[in-house]
Amino acid sequence: MSKPRPLIAGNWKMNGRQADGLALAEAILAGAGDMTAELLLCPPATLIAPVGERIRGSGIALGGQDCHWAASGAHTGDIAAPMLADLGCRYVIVGHSERRHGHGETDAMVKAKAEAALAAGLIAIVCLGETEAERDRGEAESVVGRQLEGSLPEGASPDKVVVGYEPVWAIGTGRTPSNADIEAIHGVLRRDLAASFPEADRFRLLYGGSVKPGNCEEILGLANVDGALVGGSSLKEQEFLTIARTCG
Ligand code: PGA
Repeated sequence: MSKPRPLIAGNWKMNGRQADGLALAEAILAGAGDMTAELLLCPPATLIAPVGERIRGSGIALGGQDCHWAASGAHTGDIAAPMLADLGCRYVIVGHSERRHGHGETDAMVKAKAEAALAAGLIAIVCLGETEAERDRGEAESVVGRQLEGSLPEGASPDKVVVGYEPVWAIGTGRTPSNADIEAIHGVLRRDLAASFPEADRFRLLYGGSVKPGNCEEILGLANVDGALVGGSSLKEQEFLTIARTCG
């Protein structure tokens, strides 16, 4: 079975004013050219509309960093999935560790958000990953297996859901698991998906956590790694483009 098209997603997190965000989007647009990988930009909510304007029609995809599980209503400060779709988003990240750990989001909440994303016609990037203490206790595989089971939306399919493995302790730290550890977790994810989906090979499984130009080639070459979620390096156009070009 042929490998799915790789996805390189830039999660800008809570960074950038209009001028920086637009300059970054323009630099990425100018440097992207023809690439094997699909590029995705997930700006902060304030920049989704203007960045979307700049990249419209370019083939670079736009995404949100989170969404609410409700389609509308009295949820101060939140964004609904249909609002993201309305701005031209194709993707939304749900269950990022900074949401799970910073905002107390559970698997059930992540699943509900992913279902809201699918209902709005968005592709949900469902993130999961163990903490350092869980890895030290030898629980990494069981934790991600449980998170996958609890967070995958009803109606998931390879065209509607991307899975992001992001060990909490590797995000923004400069540390990454060994290649063997990444392959082991991605193998567990693929195996677990195969138990429910005959087309499990078509799901894109992204690795995230301190991906940078110095390590992207080996990480993106690992079995069952179909792309990357990039935080810090997505704010520097040359680093982000270098990572994306690794895929050809
Ligand atoms: P990082 O973030 O690349 O800065 O480690 C990754 C992420 O949170 O997606």
